[in-house]
Amino acid sequence: HQFTVNTKPGAPVQSTMYGIFFEDINFGADGGLYSEMVENRSFEFPDRLMGWNVFGNVAVNDIKPAFDRNPHYVTVSPSGHREKQSGLENHGFFGMGIKEGMKYDFSIYARLNLLQGKSTKFRVELVGEDDVPICQDTIVVTNNQWQKYTATLSSDKTMEKAFMRIFLMSGESVDLDHISLMPQDNWHGMRADLVKDLADLHPGIFRFPGGCIVEGTDLETRYQWKNTVGDPENRPLNENRWNYTFPHRLYPNYYQTLGLGFYEYFLLSEKIGAQPLPILSCGLACQYQNSDNDKNAHVALDKLQPYIDDALDLIEFANGPVTSKWGKLRADMGHPAPFNLKQIGIGNEQWGALYPERLEMFVKQIRAKYPNIKICGSAGPSASGKEFDYGWEQMRRLGVDLVDEHYYMSPEWFLKNAGRYDKYSRKGPKVFAGEYASHVKGQGDKPTVAMNNFEAALSEAAFMTGLERNADVVHQATYAPLFAHVEGWQWRPDLIWFNNLESVRSVNWYVQMLYGTNRGTNVLSLLEDGKPIEGADGLYASAVYDKEAKNYIIKIANTGDADKDINITFNGIKNLGPGKLITLHSNDLQATNTLSNKENVVPQTTNIEAKGNTLSVKIPAKTFAVYRF
Ligand code: AHR
Repeated sequence: HQFTVNTKPGAPVQSTMYGIFFEDINFGADGGLYSEMVENRSFEFPDRLMGWNVFGNVAVNDIKPAFDRNPHYVTVSPSGHREKQSGLENHGFFGMGIKEGMKYDFSIYARLNLLQGKSTKFRVELVGEDDVPICQDTIVVTNNQWQKYTATLSSDKTMEKAFMRIFLMSGESVDLDHISLMPQDNWHGMRADLVKDLADLHPGIFRFPGGCIVEGTDLETRYQWKNTVGDPENRPLNENRWNYTFPHRLYPNYYQTLGLGFYEYFLLSEKIGAQPLPILSCGLACQYQNSDNDKNAHVALDKLQPYIDDALDLIEFANGPVTSKWGKLRADMGHPAPFNLKQIGIGNEQWGALYPERLEMFVKQIRAKYPNIKICGSAGPSASGKEFDYGWEQMRRLGVDLVDEHYYMSPEWFLKNAGRYDKYSRKGPKVFAGEYASHVKGQGDKPTVAMNNFEAALSEAAFMTGLERNADVVHQATYAPLFAHVEGWQWRPDLIWFNNLESVRSVNWYVQMLYGTNRGTNVLSLLEDGKPIEGADGLYASAVYDKEAKNYIIKIANTGDADKDINITFNGIKNLGPGKLITLHSNDLQATNTLSNKENVVPQTTNIEAKGNTLSVKIPAKTFAVYRF
């Protein structure tokens, strides 16, 4: 093969090109990124004691609560028998993972139940799988008003499935609420290892909070960002849209405490260097968009203003002066500087006429008040067909800046669609490939559910050469979903898997990372026989220039069964000099990275040398290669 690169920098590659899609699915937030180890810490799950085992004399109450939006708490009273105790245990999310040498911050709100009460004493302990306490502390309560108490627990053992026990030691009845336990290696309430997994992707954009949970099962359970800011203790519980949905696993207790909320997501965007992209409800509930008569499913146009206000107020929360209502809240929460929000998405996977007529009202008011904020609409959920075309037509009519496309398709589809954007109109909205993943069917312990394997990853790498080549029209792309708890998933594949102690980066993660760290700043033309390289002989390729690093970067996916000899000539320069080659390869298409074999398929880096302006390479079968000079 003879490839030719024209070294004259072409269209810019947006800084937002490769990024992250975050959603609380598969225990991505509560039980995942959010470091809170206690499940149902505020006793607000519909079954108030869900997640708790109680013993002795324990009752749920809501009289004069500590938090008006989370009013339930438990009253723990003496058992009435000197050989019996009263208390409660929490097993966290599939157990509590505790680590040797780690300190854990325990906190609790407590008050004496009786006004005339004097004092009570209770113990908190972390207990191992063998039922032996690992560490403990004692708390004495003498106040009959709500007060926060804290303790630090240190573990000298590592255990994946410890649990927490609290019991009365002496004294009288005590009211307890908002019982929290967090490892000290958290970053603003987020698991440090998972934050690192995100930062190492070098993402340009961070989309939150989903997905379907933006819309909710019905309007009432849509994601309402205003409930997710302010004191975590008083953020009201929301039912998770990802509940009871999949036949192979039920999640009777999957709720959003909103302890991770929009403020934290903005902070996280800033930390990992990604532009924040919040998506808000457009007034249509998930998957009900075409049903005009279901009042729980869509808001009448004349009742849409509060939804539009949510969008306008969010922009003020992110960017407004500290003297504004929502800007002040941001400052009070600890971030007086603006978050520099540049774009906002309205609606997720909406289709049919109900969507554009609602979006239009948002567009008018956002444009009038914040003309510099980009608006992201959607044309979903399928990546082709009449509904999809209708969606795009409407997005053009409304003049949105970006259109969110979703595709969860087979590896064959990804390979066939590497040229998908070659012919997209260069006028009008740009593309945001807001959810995509290659789904390989028919393997593993769940034969009908896709895997994160090398075949899927290689097809994504090949497809992404088409995103890159078309960077003038594709402005951002986010693989989805992001996280999955190994014991609590209901959708796969997912980019990062974890248990309560550690995480593993999927093969697909490495593809995203290789694109994120080799994004470049400008597209270069790369041709074979005058044509883009998008599938002939199993080869897919694209090229970019990185103005800051002054590097030429070529990405080639060899999806074929044979090794390929390729000469790449760089027109316009004399000497390429020494460079680096990074390859991602496996002989086994079904290979996956798992918690017990994290480095099964990971990139390998070697030095390479070009001759003059030509690079001659042999790319093994089934390999993704990145050359950087
Ligand atoms: O990523 C999982 C789900 O897929 C998202 O919530 C939804 O937008 C899509 O259907």
